[in-house]
Amino acid sequence: MKTQTNLATLALFCLALSCNPKDSQVEIPPEKPKKEFYVVPGPDEPFDTTMVQKGKVLIAYSDCYQCHREENKAKGPSFSDIARRYPIQEAYIAMLAQKVIRGGFGVWGYPVMSAHPKLSAEDAEAMVLYILSLDAE
Ligand code: HEC
Repeated sequence: MKTQTNLATLALFCLALSCNPKDSQVEIPPEKPKKEFYVVPGPDEPFDTTMVQKGKVLIAYSDCYQCHREENKAKGPSFSDIARRYPIQEAYIAMLAQKVIRGGFGVWGYPVMSAHPKLSAEDAEAMVLYILSLDAE
């Protein structure tokens, strides 16, 4: 009889603990919105479609697809995300072409992009133009 009472007390005690009002006040933080990348504002400039074709071929013969996919991120950002991020403007094409040639990191939160020192600026720009044109209507 005595042990039964003790058990009952213990059970009540546990129950009281588990519905400790402090516990129910623990706030569950609201789910953070998925972090999207910064999109550089600006209109697309008209571009040379023959360069786009050239860029596509150059990319196919280079090592870009070792780290990039058209749609899904791999080691590097997807080409479609890069296209969404930058407007098609000469300044961005030149800047990104230099980055492809020299390699770099820090913009997308991915590891490092290897350098491609053998690429000419013109070829690298054609490749970048192809990438950026992926989201052009
Ligand atoms: C070794 C893996 C690797 C290879 C090979 C590679 N990339 Fe990348 N690329 C990356 C990574 C990683 C990033 C993201 C760098 C960053 O966050 O700054 C990137 C970023 C880029 C960007 C966006 C740069 C920016 O500042 O937003 C372009 C454009 C690009 N790559 C084009 C190319 C092209 C064209 C080739 C082929 C010539 C190529 N990449 C080959 C890994 C690679």
